Amino acid sequence: MEIPFRYRRLGYVALNVTDLERSATFYNELVGLKISDRTDSLVALRCSRDHHNILLYRDTAPGLKRIAFEIESPADLSVARRYIAELGLEVVEVDAEELKSLRITSAFRFRIPGCDLCLEFFVQMMQLAQPYQPSVTKIERLGHVVFNVSKFDVVLKFMNEKLGFKISDFVPGFAAFLRCYPNPLHHSLAILAGADDHLNHVNFMVQDIDDIGAAMNRMKKAGIEIVFGPGRHQPSESIFLYFLDPDGMTVEYSFGMELFPELAAREARLLEPVPGTLDAWGSVPTPAFGKVGRIELSDAP
Ligand SMILES: [Fe+2]
Repeated sequence: MEIPFRYRRLGYVALNVTDLERSATFYNELVGLKISDRTDSLVALRCSRDHHNILLYRDTAPGLKRIAFEIESPADLSVARRYIAELGLEVVEVDAEELKSLRITSAFRFRIPGCDLCLEFFVQMMQLAQPYQPSVTKIERLGHVVFNVSKFDVVLKFMNEKLGFKISDFVPGFAAFLRCYPNPLHHSLAILAGADDHLNHVNFMVQDIDDIGAAMNRMKKAGIEIVFGPGRHQPSESIFLYFLDPDGMTVEYSFGMELFPELAAREARLLEPVPGTLDAWGSVPTPAFGKVGRIELSDAP
């Protein structure tokens, strides 16, 4: 279904962490993000000129607080605001004080029916004067977020039909890789079926295959648990490594991804639900893969 506004990209992900300093150090020193701002309750980190691509919030339990998408223009954001309200969902404006602290000009939030995950649509995040300087890993961008939901078909139908995310590849009733059209990346979001609703992983795309190999050794040396890989995903053709943050939430580095043209893109492929689809090289995830990080329900809206 065509929707009346256009996305630009996945903007940032907000995570809840139980020890703010410990997690800030991990994402800064081991993942390679740069800290751009900090208060008593949150730390902002970036891997681009954006003011932030990850926000860490102090909380009592690890979790996925919200996912924020940049919309193509302020005019599109206004259309999106009306459109979401007309779907019958509660639309909550981000107030002036928070907009100022987040360095964005306009934003609103709502929750996905079926799992209540908070989405934010925003425009115009401040671009910092100093470019992002890669440290331990040459991060190219915040890549995607994956989450598990118990009402898989309900959530997928909403994301596809009501929010206009296009399906790039899918396993019926189990997995869907979604791109925020017209963004060309194979997926900026993926949904997996699960017994409950929780974060599966947050991904950072890296510039070089060496970043994957070097990360494996760096994480091992630091005592960080690697939970899947290195391997190669069939759907997106990317080479990957997954590891755990200090709360046990799963983080991924990946290298390479199929890009879709805006017009005349190939149809979504139906994938066989076998381990070889997840990794062509034959590694299997450990039990800790993609388990920790409840979807936060307590925050407004
Ligand atoms: Fe991923």
